[in-house]
Amino acid sequence: MRLGVNIDHIATLRQARLGHEPDPLHSVGLIERAGADGIVCHLREDRRHIQDRDLQLLKAMVNTHLNLEMAATEEMVRIALDTAPDMVTLVPEKREELTTEGGLNVRAGGDELGKHIRMLRNHGVVVSLFVDPDLDTLKECKRVGAQFVELHTGDYAAQRGEAELDEAAERIREAAIAARRFGMRVSAGHGLNYHNVARIASIPEVEELNIGHSIISRALFTGMGDAVRDMLRAMGR
Ligand code: PXP
Repeated sequence: MRLGVNIDHIATLRQARLGHEPDPLHSVGLIERAGADGIVCHLREDRRHIQDRDLQLLKAMVNTHLNLEMAATEEMVRIALDTAPDMVTLVPEKREELTTEGGLNVRAGGDELGKHIRMLRNHGVVVSLFVDPDLDTLKECKRVGAQFVELHTGDYAAQRGEAELDEAAERIREAAIAARRFGMRVSAGHGLNYHNVARIASIPEVEELNIGHSIISRALFTGMGDAVRDMLRAMGR
């Protein structure tokens, strides 16, 4: 199973002083050398962490796979077409939220969402939709032309107790199987950490995990290389 490391929160720390350090670009070589399979960043409309310049430089520096998370807006689609990351993950975005709260409302996205997906795909960008593990939503993802779905593991990560975690992981597994049956590829992420990742990492239909906060937090104390290697080990790699 592949690991994509989300580096947003290196930029969060930099933006706390609106200065130059720590620079998220400095993490790329360390993350790739430690064995991760890709870099993930979220260019938010309010630019609270990753900046436009970071994205341009990441495109030039990343040797593995660059996954750009963004809202499905005209502005962001234009930036994605200019930058041409390997993958775009469309996420819901609210200014007041601390982090991405729920999955994308695919049905509400309507024709506009389908249009954005077609434009990105026509430019060779693989499109993933970040969605809750819900059957009707997955059918909508297929209908609007998503190639990948990223299953939102926030509800799973919020569970306490073995039985509750097992149950929530089972919902992710069933959704992953359904998405594959509909002809889409599957990743998962949000709220995963060194303690809860194993159940999700053992689902064969999920081919990639995208993890940010827990890896960046551990890296403060262990350095980035060890933080990535520890996560790969927790995933069973
Ligand atoms: N996947 C998506 C689509 C996200 O929006 C985020 C948060 O930016 C993540 C994965 C990573 O979540 P976390 O930082 O909790 O690992």
